[in-house]
Amino acid sequence: MNRKWWHDKVAYQIYPKSFLDSNGDGIGDLRGIISKLDYLKELGVDIIWLSPIYQSPFVDQGYDISDYYKIAEEFGTMEEFDELLAETKKRGMYVLMDLVVNHCSDRHEWFQKALADPYGKYAGYFHFVKGKDGKEPSNYRSYFGGSAWEPVPGTDLYYLHMFAKEQPDLNWENPELRKEIYQMINWWLDKGLAGFRIDAIINIKKDLSFPSFEPDGPDGLAICVKMVEEVQGVGEYFEDIKKHTFAKHDAFTVAEVFNMKSDELAEFIGDDGHFSTMFDFSAHMLAQGDQGWLRSRKPSVREWRDTIFHSQATLQEVGHPANIIENHDEPRGASRFLPDYAQNEAGKKLIATTTLLLYGIPFIYQGQEIGMMNCQRDDISEFDDINTTDQYQEALAAGASPEEALRACNENSRDNARTPMQWSSGANAGFTDGTPWLSPNPNYREINVAEQENRPDSVLNYYRKLTALKKSPEYKEAFTYGKFVPDYQEYDDVFAYHRILDGEEGEPQDILVAANYGRGPWTLETRGRVKVLLSNTESEGAKQAEADGAGRITLESCEGVVLLKLDGEHV
Ligand code: GLC
Ligand code: CA
Repeated sequence: MNRKWWHDKVAYQIYPKSFLDSNGDGIGDLRGIISKLDYLKELGVDIIWLSPIYQSPFVDQGYDISDYYKIAEEFGTMEEFDELLAETKKRGMYVLMDLVVNHCSDRHEWFQKALADPYGKYAGYFHFVKGKDGKEPSNYRSYFGGSAWEPVPGTDLYYLHMFAKEQPDLNWENPELRKEIYQMINWWLDKGLAGFRIDAIINIKKDLSFPSFEPDGPDGLAICVKMVEEVQGVGEYFEDIKKHTFAKHDAFTVAEVFNMKSDELAEFIGDDGHFSTMFDFSAHMLAQGDQGWLRSRKPSVREWRDTIFHSQATLQEVGHPANIIENHDEPRGASRFLPDYAQNEAGKKLIATTTLLLYGIPFIYQGQEIGMMNCQRDDISEFDDINTTDQYQEALAAGASPEEALRACNENSRDNARTPMQWSSGANAGFTDGTPWLSPNPNYREINVAEQENRPDSVLNYYRKLTALKKSPEYKEAFTYGKFVPDYQEYDDVFAYHRILDGEEGEPQDILVAANYGRGPWTLETRGRVKVLLSNTESEGAKQAEADGAGRITLESCEGVVLLKLDGEHV
């Protein structure tokens, strides 16, 4: 595999609206981000991904863009954005923007012009399709619920929206549209971005005959992704985009792709793949259950581990994956994946250890580094997210009681990860002097940056040690290119793997990451002498085992270690 500049980096996702408000309007902004660059640098972050900051009516929190060339005024100005770029550059950091081009906002000029002239040029930028027998062209359900078709006023046409009706899908079949998008991408790359996180990109290719599918719910509709899964040829679009934009700038791209087929992985993220990398969502899909949030469930440690191990084994053969614990669309990982007894600081450090040292580039999501958790709400009206409101209705329609529907939302809502960043125990978690757009999680009084900053054993300080270890000159090579080899899989609650360098590129190294997610102690047979590189609890057990070369370490519940093997049999 070709080596790339980003392989050994640590990335961090900022959700700008909730990061830090600098002017008291209750909305996070660019100035807030700029003021925290040193904080991020100290955390060991190299690459920052900003969720959308473009002009938007914020129906889907900025994933509905009304002008690709403007910064949302809520977030600041283009001058401030340029300042952010310059300030990151000064610190040797890189910035990724979010590229949202499957759809735009219904307030975008293109869509307004299309509505004004439904058979004209701009209608061709969208999917304006004649209805069938006075009804929608097909039975697609949008990702956010309800029909994916909306009537075009004054006509017998409908327009397609795979997400909200305020997010009309763009017609990638149209060369003029593609040209406009490429120009826009290049315009941003010329400014000095390192690249993009690419939103919902798998959806851009449509089957223009828009076939209906067997209904998959009581509403008689079928989820629109079925059409996307059957249509051929999306790869040609990806290659076209790459050729006209990313390749010219050597840009880094990380794609949001679900339901990846393993025989297509190389095509997507191999050496000459469409994208630099893509997120591994396998563990998140596992937790989602088969239908809606109502059936979501908590995977056991074993299932969760085995799913990640399977992905790792497959992905390391083809490319360099992007690993996450959570993002702005997923509940907090500590709440979702950790067993109840492990939802404490030790458990949060454990999940950080086992995730950040996997093969691939880690993306830390804001607040994860202090152990932010899901936020319980008592009423559906307290949620903001458009997807949550829909899932609530869907759950009720499927026969759930209001309590059950609320529980499903509390466990799965995208608002769990969107509450304001918890900077301090002061008013509104130190996020704003005004009224926050979304209430902070009340646990900010205990969980916040200020409290953890100077406490040596805090989650935050542990993250700092972890990224430093990952990037340390001695072990960087092993953590970047070392082979991922699972171990101790016969134990249910153990998450253990090696990163092994065979020595072709320097000293051979065998690093063992071993974590006990179980309720009771586990004795790890190290099969030889070890040196402790990192321990999440700094317990005596690990130090003792190192000193006396006993060949075994007893890990208490929620205890984990990173060990350098000094001798003995290698796996
Ligand atoms: C992606 C984004 C999500 C958004 C959707 C539509 O899944 O991550 O937040 O709602 O695309 O743009
Ligand atoms: Ca603000």
